[in-house]
Formats: sequence, C-alpha cells, structure tokens
Amino acid sequence: MKPMIFTGRSNRPLAQRIAAALSTSLSQATVTNFPDGELHVEVESEIVDADVYLVQSTASPVAEHLLELLFLADACRRGGAARITAVIPYFGYARQDRRTGPGEPVGGRVVADMLSAKFDRLMTVDLHNPTLEGFFTIPVEHLTAVPLLAENLPLNRGQNPVLVAPDHGAVKLAHRYAEILDLPVVIIHKLRHTAKEVSVRKLTGEIKNRTPVLIDDMIATGGTLAAAIEALLENGARQEVSIIATHALLVGDAVRRLTDLPVRRVMVTDSTTISKETALPLQRIGLADILAAKIRHLRTRD
Ligand code: R5P
Repeated sequence: MKPMIFTGRSNRPLAQRIAAALSTSLSQATVTNFPDGELHVEVESEIVDADVYLVQSTASPVAEHLLELLFLADACRRGGAARITAVIPYFGYARQDRRTGPGEPVGGRVVADMLSAKFDRLMTVDLHNPTLEGFFTIPVEHLTAVPLLAENLPLNRGQNPVLVAPDHGAVKLAHRYAEILDLPVVIIHKLRHTAKEVSVRKLTGEIKNRTPVLIDDMIATGGTLAAAIEALLENGARQEVSIIATHALLVGDAVRRLTDLPVRRVMVTDSTTISKETALPLQRIGLADILAAKIRHLRTRD
C-alpha cells in the first residue's frame, strides 16, 4: 500500500514537515467553502488501495476543522483508499470527557463516535485525558511530547528550578516531567469559575526564591497559568517564569495575560499554528519526527 498524506486547513506546515520526514510530499486536496459557508472538499483521484494519513489538528475553528477531517476521510474512502488514519496532533473536545451538569452532552464521546465511524485508526499527541482512548472503537496511537519538551528545556539548576502543576489535572503530567528532569513539584489548587475565569485556593510545596517552570497539557485562554503565576509570585517565587505545554491554543486574551507577567519562556509544540507576530517568548518544538516515526513503525508492523 502506498502511503499518501493529506491535510485540511488547520496545520498545513506540520503536515508538510511530516511528509518531508517520510521523504514524500503532501497529496493534493482542495478544501474550500461555497458562498453559503458549506464545506467543499476534493482529493486527487489516484488513491485506490492507498494507505492514507489525514493530518489535521482540531483547533479553532474547531467545528470547521473537524468537519474538514470527516469530509476528507469520506472522500478518500469513496475514492478507494485501503486504510485511513486520522493524525490529529491536537485533539479538540478532549476536555469534554464527562458531564459537569445534567443538561450537558459528553462532547468528547460524540466526536470520538464520528471519527470512529470514518477512520480505521487515530494517531494523536498528549490527549487532555488519556482515558479518552476508551471512547474510540478504532485503535488509538497515543503519542507523547513530554520527553521531547523536557529534553529541550534549558535549565539553570543554580536558580533553584521547581516544576509547578497549575491545577489538579496537571499533577500527573508534572510528575512525568519531574522524573525526567529530577526536580520537585509544587501543586496549585485551582478553582474554575467560568471557561475564562479561574482563581487559586492554595499552593502546596516550597516556592520561595525558586524559579517556577509551569507544566500543563495546553494553554487556551491562559487563565489557569496567569492565576498560578500570580499566586507563585505572591508566595515569593523568582520573577523568571517558564511554561511548558504541548498544545498552544492561545485563544482570547492569552497572549496579553501572559505577556503582562514575568514569563521568560513558553515552550510548546507545533501541534497548532501560531501567529508569527506573537509577543510571547515562544520556543516551538516540532512533532513531525515523532509522528513520522510512528507512521513508519505502523507501516512496517502491519
Ligand atoms: C485544564 O483542565 C487544562 O489542563 C488546562 O489547564 C486548561 O484547560 C487551560 O485552559 P486555560 O488556558 O483557558 O485556563
């Protein structure tokens, strides 16, 4: 089966880098909108018996990118592809892994059902909650960027660095970094009031005169990290903060919130696209090599 890599409009540069790492180039797909906004997709015709990889992060605009992915899969299936793998470096809706109130759907499950119906396999990176894998009826290859990000973090051990989990959800993740970096972990107890507003209830661990490295799976509005950083500074942390997160969504006021604080480094991956003009001190670590290596591995294994 010849491999073919397609992409929609969410993260073409990463799809190109994955293709290059596999010594190939992107296959032709056009994704446009009709005047009324309806999506239109067309893939090149020579896909009979192909081993197709559709690279698309479901970042904002989430619904549009998700539908592009489903349309591309349908086009490839009808065109005769032998196997179709969704490569979703950032998987949106992973935070809706349960109901928080009686009137809500389980959004993550709905999305998993749609993807399971259209794809043979899913490849993704650092799901917000790894148990989400159980929502899928297709095999899930769940990759992690943690070792990659940890290895690339410039650390000055003389400045007493400490890892910080900005909420309970990040504690396990912070401990994974702690194992690699051999650093202590401080835990912040966060209260979420709305999707945009959070506050800090208390902090566990020693932070005075230490340099905080905040750990999270994603930066969305930046509210979680900003509240955590303010609490760390109030408790005597050094004014030199680093952030590590796999997925940089940077929506709403995220950039302003974080640039207003003494944030010296924001280390993220290229699972999403980010405006080149951002004022944040971003360091981006590429995922193309680990995704391409996994594709290569699966192709030799199957
Ligand atoms: C929370 O459960 C997540 O791990 C992130 O901390 C959170 O979703 C980030 O969102 P925001 O940047 O909007 O606070």
